[in-house]
Amino acid sequence: MPMRLRQHVNPLHAHFAEFRGQLPVLDAGRPIELEIGCAEAQFLFERARRDPDRQYVGLEIREELVHWVNRHAQAARLPLTAVFCQAQLHLPLVMAGHFADRVYLNFPDPWFKRKHHNRRMIDEQLAVAIAEVTRPGAEIFVQSDVWEVALDALEVFERQSERFVNLAGEWAFWRQGNPFGARSWREQNAEDTGLPIWRILYHRR
Ligand SMILES: C[S@@+](CC[C@H](N)C(=O)[O-])C[C@H]1O[C@@H](n2cnc3c(N)ncnc32)[C@H](O)[C@@H]1O
Repeated sequence: MPMRLRQHVNPLHAHFAEFRGQLPVLDAGRPIELEIGCAEAQFLFERARRDPDRQYVGLEIREELVHWVNRHAQAARLPLTAVFCQAQLHLPLVMAGHFADRVYLNFPDPWFKRKHHNRRMIDEQLAVAIAEVTRPGAEIFVQSDVWEVALDALEVFERQSERFVNLAGEWAFWRQGNPFGARSWREQNAEDTGLPIWRILYHRR
């Protein structure tokens, strides 16, 4: 795992408005799993080792992490690509007509203070973009150890109920743990330190 970069970047900065990443090479015949805000992509590395017949794409706004992930994925010959982008703005462009079977939003936000609310990753724009790039029946999984962030995410997806169905029932959190057999770095950290984790699981209608 790379040395964790401490500083977070402001996704609203003009620097991120234009897409300057590299598009992933995707095979239309193989299922695609997407993590938005993947950081060093521990979760996707674990998924890719477990099921290497699928394809894994991580979106990340911190460019150094993207290069780190791609170097290590290539060295390990895993079907995993990280893409430098601002997810809300560039998700449909990155998918370029491909459709994801799963979307993970693992511990999406460092921005839990009210004054930074507009920097949060999960918003209406992102939910609409996720709907655009997922197949009917695709799973969308959100986890957070910050109550306000989890509640906000729930509200965003509930307001898009014509596009997504909550598998735990309307306005409910998913209480059956993480069913995907991989843990993100933040998830591992939260579990090791005994923090509560709120989870949400939707299907694309
Ligand atoms: C708190 S970290 C969680 C990383 C990882 N998913 C985990 O669970 O360990 C959130 C990540 O999302 C990235 N991020 C935040 N806003 C983003 C955006 N608009 N587009 C792409 N990545 C973003 C951050 O740079 C950071 O690496």
